[in-house]
Amino acid sequence: MSIIRSLVLISHDPESKLLGSEAIFAAFIEQLHHYDLQDEVSVSYATDIGQSAASPLVIIYPEAVIYGPIKPEDVPHIVEEHLYKGRIVEEKRAPTKGLSGKVAWLPVRKGSNPAENRIVLRNIGVIDPESIEDSLNQNGYEGLAIALTMSPEDVIKVISASGLRGRGGAGFPTGMKWGFVRKATGAKKYVICNADESEPGTFKDRMILEGDPQSIIEAMLIAGYAIGASEGYIYIRGEYQLAIERITKAIQQAQKIGFLGEGILGSSFNFTLHLHSGAGAYVCGEETALLESIEGKRGEPRTRPPYPTTQGLFQKPTLINNVETLANVPAILRNGAAWYHGFGTESSPGTKVYTMLGNVNVTGLVEVPMGITLREVVSIYARGMKKAPLKFAQTGGSSGSIIPASLQDTPMDFDSYRTAGLSLGSGALLICDDENCIVDIVKVLTNFFRVECCGKCAPCRVGTQRMYTTMTRITEGKGKMGDLEELELISDTLTNISNCGLGETAGTPVRDMLKHFRAEVEAHIKLGICPTGICPMVAEVPEFV
Ligand SMILES: Cc1cc2nc3c(=O)[nH]c(=O)nc-3n(C[C@H](O)[C@H](O)[C@H](O)COP(=O)(O)O)c2cc1C
Ligand code: SF4
Repeated sequence: MSIIRSLVLISHDPESKLLGSEAIFAAFIEQLHHYDLQDEVSVSYATDIGQSAASPLVIIYPEAVIYGPIKPEDVPHIVEEHLYKGRIVEEKRAPTKGLSGKVAWLPVRKGSNPAENRIVLRNIGVIDPESIEDSLNQNGYEGLAIALTMSPEDVIKVISASGLRGRGGAGFPTGMKWGFVRKATGAKKYVICNADESEPGTFKDRMILEGDPQSIIEAMLIAGYAIGASEGYIYIRGEYQLAIERITKAIQQAQKIGFLGEGILGSSFNFTLHLHSGAGAYVCGEETALLESIEGKRGEPRTRPPYPTTQGLFQKPTLINNVETLANVPAILRNGAAWYHGFGTESSPGTKVYTMLGNVNVTGLVEVPMGITLREVVSIYARGMKKAPLKFAQTGGSSGSIIPASLQDTPMDFDSYRTAGLSLGSGALLICDDENCIVDIVKVLTNFFRVECCGKCAPCRVGTQRMYTTMTRITEGKGKMGDLEELELISDTLTNISNCGLGETAGTPVRDMLKHFRAEVEAHIKLGICPTGICPMVAEVPEFV
């Protein structure tokens, strides 16, 4: 009997799929047979490896070497060198320095686009993220100093007047949330920065944490002062190693200078900050699962109410905000609420960071005012489609909406999107063209939810599995017309009776596919093949981790 000595994991999020992860998988299988290694090396897919900017990625264990971006034609060399001869292929390794450093990585045209405003990303690629002095030279901690001259209630008034809304997906008014925690009874309160960011294709929070960690510490201090908390946690995705290193250093530097600790800036305000690393579950980004996880319990969402604002971490009132939300806070304190309101739309002021992915000429992050359209993002910032015209974009990583080309002129802000039946999600935009099969991509998304479902409640546990099985059947050419009604029923049930946001949004891609591309799905079923001729119509995706 052979013993498995190596494991090859291939990223299989929608972006990786568009860029050939299935062909990479097939190439590994073929090459392992060629070198007679098929019994010693196991190959598997991973729904998301957390380094979307270098997709598709391949990780080889036990060495844990990450290669990327990889093309199918790279595989023979990697198998021969790494798996057969035991030599790491240095030139194919994914960037280890992370995405931001001293050198600007952002692929947008600097300063030449009038619509681009960097509030959140203003220091990324500009300062040395490991130097608190660099941060101080860029007005770091000025927002905190201003906040400490005000009453906590007045700080909350400024945040409310700015109109800032949560960038973690739901767009909840930030000042209102701060006010709830301020008013909650209890001497002990917490501030938490949600940096779990586990949706496939999303890496904006990682860039902020890697590129400007002091701004997040400053924002948490301002939030802590405003709500009356003396302790905070940054809950960070475990794979974000560089961000973890930089935040750890940033906390040490802030402690040394006296921004963290007791009597901050000569005031009576004290604040301690901890870093808590997640263990790889998407559901732990859901705020109550996150609380359970910090408390050392299994990461399952709680039943609400009570809400974290009154009974959060260790049952104490807790403020939870997304990284990007917090990154706006110091600038608002420095420049004022009216200044912030000058960007974006009346009901969604400010900017939004989008992760542009897919079949466009330029991929990467862009920060633009709320309210610009998908057409503008694609034509100005992504510099147009690569080959074929836009067919649809998928927002939010996996739980957002599918926006067909016919809706690309809808202003991208919370309320315009809600009115159009869409959701912005976390801001990842997977941009797909006429050569991408909607059925195939939605199948990959249903697999993500099936794998990430925590299993606590039956509608999600059963529904996500059923949705995936049905989608797989359709992509195999074995679908029936009744499958469409079943998919609709499952997605409605998931939305209506799931316990948490994961289940509530798991049916969105399927529902949007049926709403906007029903004829294409029906054609898959009637013809038994992909009508566009582009969907591989493969059998069930091999084992995922
Ligand atoms: C399954 C699931 C995963 C989530 N993951 C994240 C995440 O990684 N980061 C985040 O900020 N919010 C995430 N959220 C939303 C949070 O529950 C919460 O609404 C958010 O952190 C609030 O911050 P905000 O008001 O600043 O947007 C997730 C929600 C669900 C249902
Ligand atoms: S909806 Fe899904 S992820 Fe949320 S609690 Fe239920 S089983 Fe868990």
